[in-house]
Amino acid sequence: MKLGRVVGLRRLGREFVLWRDTDRRAIVMDDRCPHRAARLSRGRIRGGCLECPYHGFRFDARGKCRMIPANGVNAPIPHGFEVAPLAVREAHGLVWLWHGELAASNGDTPWLPGAPEASGRSIEIEREIPINYLRAMENLGDIHHTPFVHRLTLPGTGTRIEIDRCEMKDGIIESAMRLVPDIGSRFRFQAAFTSRLCLPTLASINISKRIRFIASATPIDEHNTWIWLRYSEDYLPGWLGGKLLARLAALFDINLVFTRQDLAMISTQQLDDPADISGYQLIDADRAIGMFFGLHKRAAMIAEAKSREGDRHAAGMH
Ligand SMILES: [Fe+2]
Repeated sequence: MKLGRVVGLRRLGREFVLWRDTDRRAIVMDDRCPHRAARLSRGRIRGGCLECPYHGFRFDARGKCRMIPANGVNAPIPHGFEVAPLAVREAHGLVWLWHGELAASNGDTPWLPGAPEASGRSIEIEREIPINYLRAMENLGDIHHTPFVHRLTLPGTGTRIEIDRCEMKDGIIESAMRLVPDIGSRFRFQAAFTSRLCLPTLASINISKRIRFIASATPIDEHNTWIWLRYSEDYLPGWLGGKLLARLAALFDINLVFTRQDLAMISTQQLDDPADISGYQLIDADRAIGMFFGLHKRAAMIAEAKSREGDRHAAGMH
């Protein structure tokens, strides 16, 4: 995000404003002026501060109110006008924010080592999609839908799964699987994929020997997801049109394959609780999905236990 820009975002059902201070640090705060609740994301940057568009109140990078114009530009600021900034880290071209206390996490940004970084051969693409983020993660860990959902874009792909590897190491689920033609089948081609999944929302997939991507499926709210992907290719150097090739692969994959085919199928899945897949009957080909939901459930249980402990501490203090 460029210096001087102010962006409003909804993440996990909560409204945020994102802006950069003069040191280019990303700042995230609740998108609500403490004065009369206007959206700060409609405001602008003035004097290194975020200025509320309604009455010009200014907030610095630490969330301190620095000016209330109606009181006079040099008037002291009374208490109660602070906006608490959230804990933010920036890495690999993404801004990560912690909804709770940063002290409660280890503060490390999630990433899949070896995944594409920004380069002359990579391209980034983002979309807002009307599904729960866990359905997107589930789809990213699944390849045996290819001969059915993508039969028009990847015709003739084999239907039987051969699992060469599917294991978890250091919180990363790594799998190498092939779709092979079955006996007497009209599906004739073999397709090989390697994929990696990790919490909270990252997936990386090699869609061919030389084209791969990393994706983050971030929850906007329970029913909507912000999906961000970075594609990279190893066929052409950047100066020979590598970026253009990566862009073409990304647009084909997102606009045609994912949006027209996967998304149409995902939106037919029926679950009351998006995180509860106990109603599924998984098969061997779904092994990576089963492992991802196992990780997700464990992390949710730990977070819940921590918040209960926090509540007990808070209650004990009164
Ligand atoms: Fe798909």
